[in-house]
Formats: sequence, structure tokens, C-alpha cells
Amino acid sequence: MKLTGKRVLITGGSSGIGLAIAEAMLAKGARVVVTGRRTDILKAAIDRLRKAASSIDGVAADVATEKGRAATLAFALEKLGGLDVLVNNAGGVRAGRLEETTADEIRSMIEVDLVAPIMLTRAALPALRESKDGLVVNITSGIALVAAPFYATYAGVKGGLAKFGESLRRELKGEGVHVMTVYPGATDTPMMQTSKAGPELGFTREPASAVADAVIEGIGKDAFEVIRGGEARARMIALNRDDPAALDKRFSDLKPALAEAVRDHSAL
Ligand SMILES: NC(=O)c1ccc[n+]([C@@H]2O[C@H](COP(=O)([O-])OP(=O)(O)OC[C@H]3O[C@@H](n4cnc5c(N)ncnc54)[C@H](OP(=O)(O)O)[C@@H]3O)[C@@H](O)[C@H]2O)c1
Repeated sequence: MKLTGKRVLITGGSSGIGLAIAEAMLAKGARVVVTGRRTDILKAAIDRLRKAASSIDGVAADVATEKGRAATLAFALEKLGGLDVLVNNAGGVRAGRLEETTADEIRSMIEVDLVAPIMLTRAALPALRESKDGLVVNITSGIALVAAPFYATYAGVKGGLAKFGESLRRELKGEGVHVMTVYPGATDTPMMQTSKAGPELGFTREPASAVADAVIEGIGKDAFEVIRGGEARARMIALNRDDPAALDKRFSDLKPALAEAVRDHSAL
């Protein structure tokens, strides 16, 4: 797909990876609407993006609610006059042992990371079909491919989103709407501020702009997926498939340090 002139909605485009994708898409000549719940952060993002391109707007809404999704889509359709690309990027995480994660935290992750992208995609599909060159980009996580301990719910919802995308891609094949799945590794964004896990635990962070550049490249090639993390991640994915017990042993050795490092990791 060529992004020039394309009408794009990016949920959670006010920060981190979504903001970097907005910036990169605007540079390619796309028209973009970004979203987020916090109006001050959204306004700051739009002010920053407007310095480089005029075709940017934003709406403050919570995609984890039915009302917020309706407001998000209505705003984008009105501002853009249709929709070619939906980027399901808004997301949240709470790390920690399952027994220590509250029911509210678990439900929040399920709502924002899984229910929201499924329901928003469903609502956006008529407009994406009308485009005849439509695209859904789902931002999942490397954890959907190799699930680290202390992220059971997050791994579950991100893995669910990845499989949702795979099925939908096949369902829509030949019907003018493509689906691409993105698996970022640890990325230096506000979401990671409360995590102390660093390179020693396998959480080497890359800038959000690197993820965005890879997303743009993937879109240009009509790729099915974009997996970050390079060779190290590729080896772990292979090991997880071929010898999961070896990976269990590696995580077992890291468990005490990892538990401590991600104890306060929360961004919901
Ligand atoms: N950073 C990483 O290491 C990493 C790794 C793998 C995958 N990811 C995924 O990448 C995506 C972007 O994360 P990020 O790291 O860029 O985080 P971020 O900087 O915290 O940005 C998250 C964005 O989503 C918005 N958002 C969160 N909940 C929302 C809701 N209910 N409704 C509307 N907007 C909402 C946030 O704005 P408000 O808070 O104002 O609503 C913000 O704009 C997420 O899906 C995340 O799971 C991140």
C-alpha cells in the first residue's frame, strides 16, 4: 500500500509507538486522526505533529468503552471523509503474579488490548471496505510470540489479538481489506517507565521511531507481520517452538530478578 493521501485512524496516537507511527505516516503524505483519553497529552501531540504537517486531528475518547469507540470512529469518519487505515494501537499493561493482579486490572487489559480492537475493527469495516484499499494494523507485542512470566493476562490478550488478525486477514482476502500484525519488542515509551527490566533480562529497549519505520516498511510491502527484536528474538521464537523446556529453564533462572524488575510495571 502507498500511504500518500490515505485516511488513517490511530488509536492511542497521542504517545509512544502510536505517536511515532502518526509522525511517520504524515511524512508519507497520509491524513491522520489520533486518539487518547488524556486531553493535555493529546493536545501536546497534535501541536507537535502540526509543526510538520497540517492534515492531523485528534479526539479524546476511551476506546475501552462502547461510547468512546463510537465517538472515535464518528470523529475520524467526519474529519477524514472515510477511512483507509485503522491502526489498533491503544493498549495497557499490568505486570505481576496472576494471584496478585486485581480483577479490575485483568478486565482493563482484556477491554483495551482485545475487546477494543475487535469491536472497533468491526465498526470500521464498512468504511474500510468502501476504501477498496483498506488496511487494519494491529499492534500486539513480542510477548504474543514468546510469553514471559508475570505477564500472563497481557500475553493472553496480545496473543488473542494476533490470532484475531490472522483469522480476519484470511476472512477478508480478496475483498479489499488487508490485515497486518505488529509485534514490538521492548520499546522506550511512557508505557515502560514503571518497568525496571533492562537488557540484562532481555528487555533491550529501542526507540518508538524504529518500530514506526518498520511499520511503514511493512505497509509498503503489504507484509502480514512485523516482528521486532532482531536475531535474538527470532532465536527465542524458534526455541519456544522447538524446545520450550529450554526456554522455561532460562526464564526460571531469571525469575527472581524479573519478578523484582517488573513488580511495579503498570500502565492502564
Ligand atoms: N512500549 C513497549 O515496550 C511495547 C512493547 C510491545 C507492545 N507495545 C504495545 O504498543 C502499543 C502502544 O504502547 P506504547 O508503548 O506506545 O505506550 P504509551 O506511550 O503509554 O501509549 C499508549 C497510548 O494509548 C492511549 N490509550 C491507552 N488506553 C487507552 C484507551 N482506553 N482509550 C484510548 N486511548 C488509550 C494512551 O493515551 P491515554 O493514556 O491518554 O489514553 C497513549 O496514547 C500498546 O498496544 C502496547 O501494548 C508496547
